Amino acid sequence: MAITVNEQKRIFFLDGKNTTYAFMINEYNYAEHLYYGKSIGHDDITYIRGDGGGSMLAQTPAYKAQKGVFPSYDSYHQFPAEISFYGTGDYREPALEISHEDGSRIVELLYDGYDIAEEKQKPEGMPAMRGGETLILHLKDTASHFGCDLYYTVYDDVDVIARRIVYKNEGESDVRLNRAYSFTFHVPDMEYEVMTLHGAWGRERRIESIPVHHGVVSVDSKRMSSSATLNPFMALVKKGTCEEYGNVYGFSLVYSSSFVLKAEGINNGSIQITGGINDFDFSWKLQKGEKLETPEVVIAYSDEGLGGMSRIYHDAYREYLINKRFVKAKRPLVINNWEGTYFDFDNQKLKEIAEAAKGTEIDTFVLDDGWFGKRDDDFSGLGDWFVNTDKLEGGLTEVIEYVNGLGMKFGLWFEPEMVNEDSELYRAHPDYAIGVPGRVRCQSRNQYMLDLTRKEVRDYIVENVNGVLHKHHISYVKWDYNRNVTDAWSCGLTKDRQAEFSHRYALGLYDLCERIVEANPEVFFEGCSSGGGRFDPAILYYFPQVWTSDNTDAEDRTLIQYGTSMVYPLSTMSCHVSVVPNHQTGRITRMDTRADIAHLGATGYELDTTAFSDEDRECVRRQIEEYHEIEELVLDGDLYRTENPMESNYFGFMLVSKDKKEAFLTAYRRLGHANGEVKRLKVCGLDKDIYYYVKELDSTFLGATLMNVGLLPVFDKGDFKTVKYHFMSLDI
Ligand code: GLA
Repeated sequence: MAITVNEQKRIFFLDGKNTTYAFMINEYNYAEHLYYGKSIGHDDITYIRGDGGGSMLAQTPAYKAQKGVFPSYDSYHQFPAEISFYGTGDYREPALEISHEDGSRIVELLYDGYDIAEEKQKPEGMPAMRGGETLILHLKDTASHFGCDLYYTVYDDVDVIARRIVYKNEGESDVRLNRAYSFTFHVPDMEYEVMTLHGAWGRERRIESIPVHHGVVSVDSKRMSSSATLNPFMALVKKGTCEEYGNVYGFSLVYSSSFVLKAEGINNGSIQITGGINDFDFSWKLQKGEKLETPEVVIAYSDEGLGGMSRIYHDAYREYLINKRFVKAKRPLVINNWEGTYFDFDNQKLKEIAEAAKGTEIDTFVLDDGWFGKRDDDFSGLGDWFVNTDKLEGGLTEVIEYVNGLGMKFGLWFEPEMVNEDSELYRAHPDYAIGVPGRVRCQSRNQYMLDLTRKEVRDYIVENVNGVLHKHHISYVKWDYNRNVTDAWSCGLTKDRQAEFSHRYALGLYDLCERIVEANPEVFFEGCSSGGGRFDPAILYYFPQVWTSDNTDAEDRTLIQYGTSMVYPLSTMSCHVSVVPNHQTGRITRMDTRADIAHLGATGYELDTTAFSDEDRECVRRQIEEYHEIEELVLDGDLYRTENPMESNYFGFMLVSKDKKEAFLTAYRRLGHANGEVKRLKVCGLDKDIYYYVKELDSTFLGATLMNVGLLPVFDKGDFKTVKYHFMSLDI
């Protein structure tokens, strides 16, 4: 039993693997947070409750309603909230802003019972973690028929609590939600920094630390995509925390549209965290009997530093979020033609690229953009999911059969959410594109976006994409998304529902993904958004892998992959080896360095193989052979980040098998210096009592020795060099 209720004291305990989450229903029937951290006993911990300090506090109306008098001091503002609400004395960031039919905006959500579900139900139309025992806490407004359910899912093998709120209108008249966040959470002191992942195209997921202050630190997206600008993630990191030690709380939203996460320093010296769907440009009408499901937030707690938090997320997402069929299965090892040809290819060229990969152990050929409609550049063709026979004379079938004949699988690129003005689709249905009639709408990469809030538009896409997939022998799909929403408006929504667009876009996208992924159960899907512009847990629910960045430069990739690994497992990061000078940075790094960094993810190659010499082909074959030796560690191992490239001249990732019998360390030195420092590499995560054979040193050491003493790497002279170590337990 992971969920225990002390009925007498009205305290709820949710026990995870090494953690306990506790809250109470207090004397005002308010859900008051008590604790989240390392496992504790089911004791009466209400002694930790503080008072409100007495000044300028609004006494709780519920007490007066019940007892006829006001409490002397107590106010909602002072209680650590499970859901904070506005209008009855709580001046912190509310999770909810409501407008009743009479224009009043007050709500007082108090306890109305609970249920426990042994197995969690999937939220309607939304991706979320699967499994786990779930507590559903019912709350009801004291003066209207509005209520909400707070969902808490707890797992006995990972230290996360998955939370969301369902808002319910059980009254006769409409209500309008101007804000409908997913959770409120509380940390009892302010000795924390907020860590976020920010970035841009080609420079995704850089780490930033911001001190918590009295006021709000927030991250958000207004792009109707989770975006490269700010990932839907925030962590509270205790001052002094490092990779291996210290308290960290992570907040990861399973959401792909405009979001917000906020950490607010409260005047009593604590921190309140809240967030969910961005309330900027948002409003949702709930008619009689209607509900609004909100996106799930996955809250992780670790006292083993940032590394501990990441390992928790990696396990949680691999076990409970990502498609079971693919998450730990060997990944397609691809050759993608994009950087090799861009739009300039025909049947012959594609066949030659596939043919030239023969003998390298590459097992999947992925045909990227340009195979459909009249697509010879990025000005036309999007939306027309039929083969460009001017380019591919024998159609797709001929190329696919050829590729299959070489013993390779075939993959194909789509950008299902988009349309070009110069396309059959746009000419037939200009209204399918998002935009406000009478206004010139924005183009981005010369394209418009399709209105996924409309069912007929989604039906068109599903029919056409599934049509291609069912007609051909396709094993892999790269689902791209190369711009963000502008001109949000839909002819399918009434005037009073236009501000629902952003969330409805997400619901439309999920519906699309579900219908295409489920209709093609054998196809492996990779997400993409001009690289890693939509790398979030909701996308990972549908697509087990995401193209991490268009930037394939090994040096820049150390930074991108380091930041991405804060939340996302290595198996979700698509990483390709490309040519030099690198197309994005112009940098020259050696082929082995590029492969060593790309092999710390779901690896592949993205170049013109017809330019290979026999030596290059042999080099790729050897690299892939080496990759297969560590593939299981990449897909299922525990990650220890041993060197931080954002703070030093080095990058280091150590992958350790779950049973600790095998491990692999890749370390990278950015710049070589004359008479440089003597670098001692960190070794982490091994079993201190096991002897390991280190292949590269042809020596055996006790785990404790390796972890305490470290290793002395010998980097080749020059810049951008790597070293690798493979550790094997002698018991294997
Ligand atoms: C995006 C992707 C690239 C490639 C191109 C094709 O930029 O990130 O990998 O697929 O689109 O147009």
